[in-house]
Amino acid sequence: MERTLSLIKPDGVAKNIIGEVIKRFETAGIKVVAMKKLHLSQKQAEGFYAVHKERPFFKSLTEFMTSGPIVAMVLEGEDVIAKNRKLMGATNFKNAEEGTIRRDYATDIEKNVVHGSDAPETAAFEIAYFFSMMEIVG
Ligand code: CMP
Repeated sequence: MERTLSLIKPDGVAKNIIGEVIKRFETAGIKVVAMKKLHLSQKQAEGFYAVHKERPFFKSLTEFMTSGPIVAMVLEGEDVIAKNRKLMGATNFKNAEEGTIRRDYATDIEKNVVHGSDAPETAAFEIAYFFSMMEIVG
């Protein structure tokens, strides 16, 4: 059993597709073991995306991530990090496979609806960034 962090970004929340995204996870046999809706501060967004701080898109990305509420979830399942990334599709929706969340709903390389951890180490950091142990109910 593996866990990963999933975020529905401000564009996904604004599009009213929280339920649609969760339905895709559940249909794939993935369990939501923690969930909250929140509005990140600039500092919180910068801390979450610290690995990207030297990238040219960092300022724009953190401003976008603070532009409205997001939904954070912990997903659980076998091989869930890879499964979630497959359901999301490529970062750039133009390269995302048909039937993926980003292909269906993203409008921009930045406004790409969802985020998912990319490896066990990042999942551990990202889950702990949003949730305490007592908030995760497996
Ligand atoms: P995410 O999976 O959350 O990880 C980093 C985010 O940066 C990415 O999704 C996009 O929202 C955003 N981003 C903006 N421009 C780029 C880019 N050129 N390459 C990768 N990510 C980008």
